[in-house]
Amino acid sequence: MAIVVPIKNDKIKLFEGVLSGIPHDCLIIVVSNSRRTLTDRYIMEMDVVKQFRKLTEREIIMTHQKDEALAKAFRKAGYTAILDDTDLVRSGKAEGMIVGIALAKLCGKTYVGFVDADNYMPGAIWEYVKDYGAGFLLSNSPYIMVRLAWKYKPKWTEEPYFKKTGRISERANVYMNLLISKNTGFETKIVRTTCAGDHAMTLKLAECLPFASGFAAETQELLAIFEMFGGILPTTIREAVQHGVDIFQIETANPHIHEERGDEHVTEVLLHSLSALYHSPLCSDEIKREIHKELIASRAVKPKEPLSKPEIIPPIAEMNFKQFQKAISIEAFTTF
Ligand code: GDP
Ligand code: CO
Repeated sequence: MAIVVPIKNDKIKLFEGVLSGIPHDCLIIVVSNSRRTLTDRYIMEMDVVKQFRKLTEREIIMTHQKDEALAKAFRKAGYTAILDDTDLVRSGKAEGMIVGIALAKLCGKTYVGFVDADNYMPGAIWEYVKDYGAGFLLSNSPYIMVRLAWKYKPKWTEEPYFKKTGRISERANVYMNLLISKNTGFETKIVRTTCAGDHAMTLKLAECLPFASGFAAETQELLAIFEMFGGILPTTIREAVQHGVDIFQIETANPHIHEERGDEHVTEVLLHSLSALYHSPLCSDEIKREIHKELIASRAVKPKEPLSKPEIIPPIAEMNFKQFQKAISIEAFTTF
């Protein structure tokens, strides 16, 4: 299994802890979009990785999302949807994840998992990866996704308070469940992991899913599975339907303690997630109205402002991988 760590200006101490929590047998892939001007955060991250590698002899590869050689390889592979107007990989968490999946494929991995770099508990990271493994062992299908449902998402005010869910998941889960309920005719609250950043997939599944830009990736993955394999819309991948696509939601034993980023960030992530839901062909007009109302109430959009469609990046399976393999050079990676 490859574990991808997307990072953007996170505290170095947290990054170091996250790396140390990843079980030894996994290849670590760090995809950074951290600041390179003023204080060059990437240099600090490189120092951490260098030291970590030296002490643990771990397999670890590292790249910067704005690396020219990386962008060039994507361009050669015809995968230009991931590039921005400056011809570099666009900023965004999803874009970082896609880079990670492509590199996991390059290294011949069967499984790819993600852990956020802003986690305060190295022990929790260790558990997350074990949970991914447990999920994969529960299924015989080559198309598996494991998403973690946090045991608790504590709030640190004067007294710690062990809340069950975060502010974003709470809202996004409502609409994801509504979408399933309305499409099946049976009310359900089954989805607890609409925005689960900590999740994993078989590479076979990861490479056939389209991704939504920015913070909508995790929501869009579920939607894409429902759209492509849910039996309502036509499917193009018969093999996946024959084997079945399994999604596991595993509740962690550890609480999820990560960086508190404030209201603006919460609004941005909620907007990305709900926009993906809104624009799914499985979303009815009634749910669309509810989502719009919710986003107006959270001041993510102005009244009457239409919801823009998230940028959809086509599946990695559609890129010319041979060209990518040929074009990617050692220059795209940080060497130690
Ligand atoms: P939240 O946990 O959903 O509130 O989102 P975070 O802001 O903590 O982001 C989740 C992870 O993605 C963190 O480790 C971030 O550093 C990382 N991240 C956010 N934006 C980007 C990006 O543009 N590129 C990369 N590579 N990572 C990103
Ligand atoms: Co976070």
